[in-house]
Amino acid sequence: MAEQKTILRALAGETLPTPPIWMMRQAGRYLPEYRATRAQAGDFLSLCYNSELAAEVTLQPIRRYGFDASILFADILLLPQALGADLWFVTGEGPRLSTIQSQADFDVLKPADAVHDTLSPIYETVRILRRELPAETTLIGFAGAPWTVATYMIAGRGTPDQGPAHALKDENPDLFGQVIDRLVEGTITYLSEQIKAGAEVVKLFDSWAGSLKGADFERYAVEPTKRIIAALKDMHPNTPIIAFPRGAGERYEGFAQATGADCVAFDDGVTAAWAAQHVQKDGCVQGNLKSSHMVTGGDALVAETRAIVDALRGGPHIFNLGHGITPDADPENVQLMIDTVRGH
Ligand code: CP3
Repeated sequence: MAEQKTILRALAGETLPTPPIWMMRQAGRYLPEYRATRAQAGDFLSLCYNSELAAEVTLQPIRRYGFDASILFADILLLPQALGADLWFVTGEGPRLSTIQSQADFDVLKPADAVHDTLSPIYETVRILRRELPAETTLIGFAGAPWTVATYMIAGRGTPDQGPAHALKDENPDLFGQVIDRLVEGTITYLSEQIKAGAEVVKLFDSWAGSLKGADFERYAVEPTKRIIAALKDMHPNTPIIAFPRGAGERYEGFAQATGADCVAFDDGVTAAWAAQHVQKDGCVQGNLKSSHMVTGGDALVAETRAIVDALRGGPHIFNLGHGITPDADPENVQLMIDTVRGH
């Protein structure tokens, strides 16, 4: 029964004796089996669009570690690609996209409902996973939140300070608003289709939410997330939604209520003790071990993992890292983290 899956119980507000656990970027380059499948697929995007191989890399960390949840293998930048942006990855550097600087750049984008032409292999990956995952493992689908995806679409690449997106937002709020609106619509239709294919939970990654200050945080992190959640809840009232406004700091407080999210994921910029008091009072939280512990391991990993579990044991909690695991992590440290959470 779906209700018995630990992640779904935590998302429904239940306080469990042991927090369920999964890890951002759990399928990735720190695993030798991932590197082997990636080499077989060719480049990263070919892996994302090869449903069989994408399902295979999604399953690898489940087989190795028995995480309580599995996250669909894909990328937040597939949506802009499906909207008509050019997208490619430069090895060792990261993503590159065609940029949006003018109304003409925006006008060549496709309408939201055209995204399925490109994204149908992703839905097929979800269907394969629902067949092949163990009965106790929850399948999480995801998309980027509009602000974060817009920062890549506008700059054409990752940037340290999201400067080009801030500039467009301030200098041409009308055009910027059109980009956000198209991403809101595209994200609703994309996530709705992932849910129809079998995703049991969806997560919105707003990796650059922390760079939005003052009213901009409200306008471009809270509002678009709220619109997406309202539309998804209308169509799929029983699918829980996790929001991750990374770097939000004290603005994690109230985020669940402001957006309708069932769970707020938080990074290591706030302490678990603070989150217990200010975020967990409103429902389930997910977080927040510093990812560098997966590189360094040892007693510090064990002590910090225990401290997080203890701080959050008074309410619903899903154990996770504060951000994605990095390629230089040691797979044995992941096992040590899991053993510590489950044995504590
Ligand atoms: O978490 C998972 O295991 C699921 C798959 C997943 C990937 N990316 C796979 C990936 C998820 C959920 C993402 C989200 C994502 N992608 C975010 C938001 C989360 C975050 O990390 O802040 C962002 C900003 C992106 C965009 C992106 N994708 C960048 C900037 C890069 C290059 C940096 C890097 O780590 O190489 C990617 C590539 C990427 N996405 C990889 C993986 C496994 C590495 C690709 C490879 O195999 O070479």
